[in-house]
Amino acid sequence: MRILITGGAGYIGSHTLLEVLNAGHEAHVIDNLSNSSPTALSRVKQLTNRDFGFTEGDIRDRDAIQSAVDAFQPEAVIHFAALKAVGKSVVDPMPYFHNNVYGTLVLLDALRESSCRRFAFSSSATVYGDPQYLPIDEQHPLSVTNPYGRTKLQMEGILEDLARSDPSWSIALLRYFNPVGAHASGRIGEDPNGIPDNLMPFIAQVAVGRREALNVFGDDYDTADGTGVRDYIHVVDVARAHLAAVDWCAGGDGEGRGCEAFNLGTGRGTSVLEMATAFGKACGKPIPINIAPRRPGDVATMFAHPGKAEQTFGWRAEFSVDEMCQSSWNWQSQNPQGYSAE
Ligand code: UD1
Repeated sequence: MRILITGGAGYIGSHTLLEVLNAGHEAHVIDNLSNSSPTALSRVKQLTNRDFGFTEGDIRDRDAIQSAVDAFQPEAVIHFAALKAVGKSVVDPMPYFHNNVYGTLVLLDALRESSCRRFAFSSSATVYGDPQYLPIDEQHPLSVTNPYGRTKLQMEGILEDLARSDPSWSIALLRYFNPVGAHASGRIGEDPNGIPDNLMPFIAQVAVGRREALNVFGDDYDTADGTGVRDYIHVVDVARAHLAAVDWCAGGDGEGRGCEAFNLGTGRGTSVLEMATAFGKACGKPIPINIAPRRPGDVATMFAHPGKAEQTFGWRAEFSVDEMCQSSWNWQSQNPQGYSAE
């Protein structure tokens, strides 16, 4: 299949690109490199020994996107390109609406004249808001707690309406829990700009000596050890889920599948302290921690009911938390400054 990947140079995008190429598909990447590096793309080429097209462009740029679609004629699209910092979206929401929502409209407009009606969308468990029950299945009520989450919900809504208007669409809304870890080679991984907002890249930078200690945001939650519990999932499992979802989109016997949401999680919760301990084991030295106040907007516990993806397209997460930590450390120790050294 010819698969167009927006945001293909990013963290989850580059891991998915690698799996797409290894599965024998043709790929074309669109990325504006605003929070990603061309080095990730060259390393995917080395790792797979495969070539692919690349448009350095912004999904808001109609001409660039239309030209890429016209030239490549995708048979499926995997759409990652978006801004993703929750805190920044609260302080300055407009770039989130422009990049995420308007950018998605431009992409969908560009597909209008093409025959491509298969679409895998990078959504987030953030669309569930504060958990009403656990584990969270796809029927869980949806709500918004910040502008970033609102854009994910708006994009899901746009895709649902589109599928309703034209039954030839097959759209998978992939709601990620907490993707972490890196490819086994240690050549691609997560390399956030500035101080990491998320737990795993922060711990990895403490382990490699770039930061002194992990601030644990709250130890008085109603959880076993008082720290927040999340459903961490290996990024390679997440990447493989995209392939399975695209295959599901393509398997409708000529009919569209409509628009369906799928959780990507393991179904298991791990606390901040458990994660720090597991990482300490992986890197061979304990991770220093400071107990800090709770972070506004955080919930105590979140984990997925992951069964629908398995029932529908036979995908299930395979990697353990220890493997997530080992692969993350393998990446961070080989690339202490991320991609910026190249
Ligand atoms: C966050 C976003 C979510 C987004 C996801 C991926 C919020 C409320 N949610 O998920 O919408 O899809 O990132 O970008 O921001 N923690 C620490 N110290 C740190 C960092 C985190 O103790 O330095 C704790 C947090 O309090 C939380 C857990 O680690 O309990 C995971 O945090 P994080 O990695 O930021 O992910 P989420 O907040 O679950």
